[in-house]
Amino acid sequence: MTPQSLSLSRIAPFGMLLWLLMAFCFTFCLSHQNPNEFALTNLEKSSTKEPEKKETKAEEEMDAKDLEVFQPTHEWQALQPGQAVPAGSHVRLNLQTGAREVKLQEEDKFQSNLKGLKKGKRLDINTNTYTSQDLKSALAKFKEGAQTESSKEDEARQAEVKQLFRPIEELKKEFGELNVVIETDMQIMVRLINKFNSSSSSLEEKIAALFDLEYYVHQMDNAQDLLSFGGLQVVINGLNSTEPLVKEYAAFVLGAAFSSNPKVQVEAIEGGALQKLLVILATEQPLTAKKKVLFALCSLLRHFPYAQQQFLKLGGLQVLKGLVQEKNMEVLAVRVVTLLYDLVTEKKFAEQEAELTQDVSPEKLQQYRQVHLLPGLQEQGWCEITAHLLALPEHDAREKVLQTLGALLATCQDHYRQDPQLSRTLASLQAEYQALATLELQEGEDEGYFRELLGSIDSLLRELR
Ligand SMILES: *[C@@H]1O[C@H](CO)[C@@H](O)[C@H](O)[C@H]1NC(C)=O
Ligand SMILES: *[C@@H]1O[C@H](CO)[C@@H](O)[C@H](O)[C@H]1NC(C)=O
Repeated sequence: MTPQSLSLSRIAPFGMLLWLLMAFCFTFCLSHQNPNEFALTNLEKSSTKEPEKKETKAEEEMDAKDLEVFQPTHEWQALQPGQAVPAGSHVRLNLQTGAREVKLQEEDKFQSNLKGLKKGKRLDINTNTYTSQDLKSALAKFKEGAQTESSKEDEARQAEVKQLFRPIEELKKEFGELNVVIETDMQIMVRLINKFNSSSSSLEEKIAALFDLEYYVHQMDNAQDLLSFGGLQVVINGLNSTEPLVKEYAAFVLGAAFSSNPKVQVEAIEGGALQKLLVILATEQPLTAKKKVLFALCSLLRHFPYAQQQFLKLGGLQVLKGLVQEKNMEVLAVRVVTLLYDLVTEKKFAEQEAELTQDVSPEKLQQYRQVHLLPGLQEQGWCEITAHLLALPEHDAREKVLQTLGALLATCQDHYRQDPQLSRTLASLQAEYQALATLELQEGEDEGYFRELLGSIDSLLRELR
């Protein structure tokens, strides 16, 4: 089963139920002369053509409404979330847009399946890939059969069809046994990891597997399950891939898996994730890959002082410095500054909390005490770097930089005081935000965004006086 038919398998039980009900109703209507006979196959008791058409139409409408089955064409078309695709469609992840796209298979297997059915082949309901389309064609087949003349040659075929269209109870039972393959999250993750880990998977398939996996590992339990069968390590090793896209999507999965999940964070450190992430950030890679890798790094470091220590030991600050000084990486610079701000304040809060309460575990505090972040920042010139980043044009970038300047103030104040460019920038921003805050106030916003920015600038200027 492809990852894409996943969503189908999730909604399939409901669709199935619907179909059973409709099939039941249809049969009932057909055989209403003899209401005791509920067998789906009753070829002799055919109805006229006209009402059938109406019913078919109604079925199609209901189908579209309740199942949202996407009808692929020969062109690639974007698939909306929640839409199911007929079996045999070709699904790909558009690597430019991140959208999933669907079209008919080149060979058009689905169409030939239909043809096969029309020729009287048995619909194999024991496979788990049948869709509402299959059932619909089966039903159409049944109607078609109802119109044919009962000849000797047809009788064998009818028996075959009869085999397929058994009494509703029997069908129900079989569907029940099939259980429409409701995979557990664990089974799905194992399947996706196998797909990703398999040398016979194409790049497209690997990326699609990672893309789907990311959805599952947001759940803490799932991320921990990923550990249990070695899946996490497979994804971590994906960071070593020579394909930038594999690196990118592996980091995407890891970022989600690490997020507030200490167990996974610990395993990831042991599995060498930190080094690999830093190597990617330190080498030439597409911006999109670096973005996701930086995201994974943030998730790995947050609330995990041991990882923060390792990060400093491995020269993480130097790697980040290289990153913010790269051309056209301004987006990353803001994220880096945000990360540093988070780390500085996290440590400060942990220490404050330990002072205020006796609650914090002493080991954790010990861990934080060994994160020599501020001295490292000072030594490596981050006072200067952060001050320069204030020249970024976007308000939200400036907001982040201002926050960070505030957090670094105790460490960097000497530098800040002696930086003439910083005072000029602060003065001009003060004027700019004064004007904007005034406008904001005129529009009735008395606790507006610009006023807040102005407040940060005012207090920085006061502190630096
Ligand atoms: C991934 O593939 C490698 C080599 O093909 C194999 O040794 C390893 O067991 C696989 N890992 C998982 C979790 O399937
Ligand atoms: C991944 O690459 C790093 C160097 O970037 C190397 O040290 C390590 O052995 C590689 N790991 C695997 C599993 O290939």
